[in-house]
Amino acid sequence: MRSQDLVDSSLVTGAAAGPVRVGRTRVAVIGAGPAGLIVANLLRKAGVDCVVLERHTRAHVEQRARAGLIEPRVVEMLRRFGLADRLLRMADAHTTCEFRIDGRRHEINYSAAHGGRRHYVYPQQELVTDLVAAFLDAGGDLRFQAADVRPHGLDTDRPWVTYVDGATGETTRLDCDFVAGCDGFHGVSRASVPAGALTEHSHEHGIGWLSVLAEAPPSTKAIIYALHPDGFAGHMLRSSTVSRFYLQCPVGDSVDNWPDERVWAELHKRLALRDEDWTLTEGPIIEKRVLDMRSFVVEPMSYGRLYLAGDAAHIITPVGGKGMNLAAHDAERLAEALVAHYEGSDALLHDYSATCLRRVWRSQEFCQWMTEVIHASRDAGSSFRQRLAVARLEHLLTSPAAAAVFAENYLGQD
Ligand code: APR
Repeated sequence: MRSQDLVDSSLVTGAAAGPVRVGRTRVAVIGAGPAGLIVANLLRKAGVDCVVLERHTRAHVEQRARAGLIEPRVVEMLRRFGLADRLLRMADAHTTCEFRIDGRRHEINYSAAHGGRRHYVYPQQELVTDLVAAFLDAGGDLRFQAADVRPHGLDTDRPWVTYVDGATGETTRLDCDFVAGCDGFHGVSRASVPAGALTEHSHEHGIGWLSVLAEAPPSTKAIIYALHPDGFAGHMLRSSTVSRFYLQCPVGDSVDNWPDERVWAELHKRLALRDEDWTLTEGPIIEKRVLDMRSFVVEPMSYGRLYLAGDAAHIITPVGGKGMNLAAHDAERLAEALVAHYEGSDALLHDYSATCLRRVWRSQEFCQWMTEVIHASRDAGSSFRQRLAVARLEHLLTSPAAAAVFAENYLGQD
């Protein structure tokens, strides 16, 4: 399917000056995060030729620590395609989470409230590592260090993508049938769509989080969401040696204001239990970032022959652990729609955006609810909203029906 001929760049519309290699594939996938790698693996398994273009090195994408909570339906999808072997061996299954309010623990067994389904805790970079290996082992074409990637002709039946090989400096033009834009929020795919063709819905929550990754074994078996008068604190799980913590902070705060001693002092204070012994295990901090809580959705998730998936199309607050799961859902839907196209039906491609957006908005609504609830003790906007958030939390902790709804949202609908 693929060809690589050296031609003069003057023959190639829209390409940079200098010698240009020309290649051909059916689907050009931009970005090797969870979305792009799942699209590529599923296409490969169905025998649909694709090329993945990733701006960073393999080492970079395999070490980039991000999310870690995987919904049961995503694990099942990966298993079905033979992509979950290491995940199922290494990942911990989780069934409960814990809210700490006024120094008291309230556990929710969300698994019991939703038919025994369980989350898996598996760091995103481990999943990315598995997906890169699976794709390359199957003979997949993944080009790292692809610089200046640019899609062209998206509103035609013959789009193409140009990029510069980071190692050789050579420009390549890749002709294709479709472009899968899986290059995250700051990627080039969505930015290539003409102004006005897509509608953007965006929301700033007015809440900042200091995100901390520490080489510290978990001090808990379940994720902790702690409400404290000084702000929210979270203890998330990653592995037996690494934990993620979050501390609510002012929007636009700087990590310079958060020396390690202050991080640990605030975590000890906000996670403390009143009537029980509990120890927070410290460890070297390996990453600190300030996140401003924001939500963003673009509609539709396609333009001409470009289909957006994952963070390229939507950003969600990290509170419900949905970002990676939505990326995986989009990727599965996009791959099946592209495979159906080559089998003669465009119905799934036609419905791709609407199908994905239904799940995206359900998740946005849940994460908005959860964002308001866990920040109830501070910066809820007004004392009225603060009281509403407390009422929601009380409902969740006292009503089996409310717990069942939470469980369905938290675990993700099948
Ligand atoms: N050219 C080529 N590659 C690019 C470009 C570009 N112009 N811009 C970005 N990329 C690559 C990034 O280096 C990254 O590897 O696209 C990939 C996008 O991956 P992610 O940001 O992980 O996005 P996605 O695959 O949609 O996964 C969403 O990742 O951001 C987290 O928490 C989020 O869990 C969610 C998940």
